[in-house]
Amino acid sequence: MKTERVIPETLLDMKERGEPIVMISTYDYITAKIADECGVDVILVGDSLAGPILGLPNTLGVTMDEMLHHTRGVARGANRAMVVGDMPFMSYQTCSEEAVKNAGRFVKEAGAHAVKVEGSGAMVERIRAIVEAGIPVMGHIGLTPQWVLEIGGYRVAGKSLEAAKKLVEDALLLEKVGVFCLVLECVPWQVAKAITERLRIPTIGCGAGPYCDGQVLVLHDLIGVTEKVPKFVKKYAEVGKEISRALREFRQETKEKKFPTMEHSYSMPAEEEEKFISWLKTRHL
Ligand code: KIV
Repeated sequence: MKTERVIPETLLDMKERGEPIVMISTYDYITAKIADECGVDVILVGDSLAGPILGLPNTLGVTMDEMLHHTRGVARGANRAMVVGDMPFMSYQTCSEEAVKNAGRFVKEAGAHAVKVEGSGAMVERIRAIVEAGIPVMGHIGLTPQWVLEIGGYRVAGKSLEAAKKLVEDALLLEKVGVFCLVLECVPWQVAKAITERLRIPTIGCGAGPYCDGQVLVLHDLIGVTEKVPKFVKKYAEVGKEISRALREFRQETKEKKFPTMEHSYSMPAEEEEKFISWLKTRHL
């Protein structure tokens, strides 16, 4: 049976009904399929893949081609969830034309249903251009990792009155420009609550407390594959430890010649085996 795809309107309805939105960041077909089957509403192909997939120190080195490659896999795995492609560093910062072109690549070449753009200020015009081109945009304010060179590190945003006021103003402006949803990353819960109560569109918290309309976590963090996770992450499993255990056992059994047994081997039919042995004999092999 074909399930109905989550679209921006679905998320608006969920906010109106008070039903929390569940979003994860993941980067491949099989985990997207599992997440989709578990009822996750939105799958973000985050540029956070810089860490668990590419081993990079930050998100600045991630390219459009890498993002498209991963988005294709995720899009094939998601039947119901909305797939959001995360616009990587320098794919939209330069000008609106470039922003629209790259947002379009996520949709046309990779099967995404929306894109996410970090920031406000000058980025508002880029976002407006993408929305006007008919591509839904998810906003992202608070801690915006693509601005790490400017910020000088990863820290909670909006702790002072001035910073909190700016976050509220940015959120209102982004809603006006047409984003369908807004990620609030590492923001004090009081600020996230105030924004959530004042927006018609849903907010998705990532270290922004319990009062957002939805929550997002990186899959690798929540299942415990990532070793070090930020304070706001709850680990729901220890999959990293389980992978280590399985690999150590595989290594041990292979070294001790305990694997594979006949249970994990293929066999020829008896009459073929007989003929094969006589053939080897005739060839003196
Ligand atoms: O890149 C990412 O995965 C993100 C989420 C954590 C919001 O931006």
